[in-house]
Amino acid sequence: MKDQPRIIELPKIQDPRGNLTFIEENRHVPFEIKRIYYLYDVPGGAIRGGHANRTQKFIIAASGSFDVILDDGFTKQRFHLNRSYLGLYVPPLLWREIDNFSYGSVCLVLCADFYSPDDYIRDYEEFIRIARGEA
Ligand code: TYD
Repeated sequence: MKDQPRIIELPKIQDPRGNLTFIEENRHVPFEIKRIYYLYDVPGGAIRGGHANRTQKFIIAASGSFDVILDDGFTKQRFHLNRSYLGLYVPPLLWREIDNFSYGSVCLVLCADFYSPDDYIRDYEEFIRIARGEA
């Protein structure tokens, strides 16, 4: 069966001075972390993503909140991320959009590979063909 997207709860060290969460590769996320990028200063109403990736990702609302919409070529699922200790595991080959960013939110993305344009499928029709096994 194809790997499913899922929310993963990360360790949370509670402290009156402020909470702490950490992430270890192959323990808290099911892959080796090669790259981290983050979205910030996102203007109200913006929509990010609008593509699929060939490699897996792990998305965290490090601050604030937003929604991740995942489309497997047949159905769409919306995940609301609003806790710094929760992450969304995104398996390969899901069309992804991120919207509903709260003011000042930070979207942290852990990646299993270095950046490459070849990791992206940016054409929705092409994605549908691949996702439905027609390509
Ligand atoms: P993109 O992945 O399309 O942004 P999002 O999916 O969050 O809307 O990336 C936007 C631009 O940034 C694109 O020109 C590629 C570039 N980019 C890098 O150079 N390195 C990276 O690690 C990432 C994620 C993007």
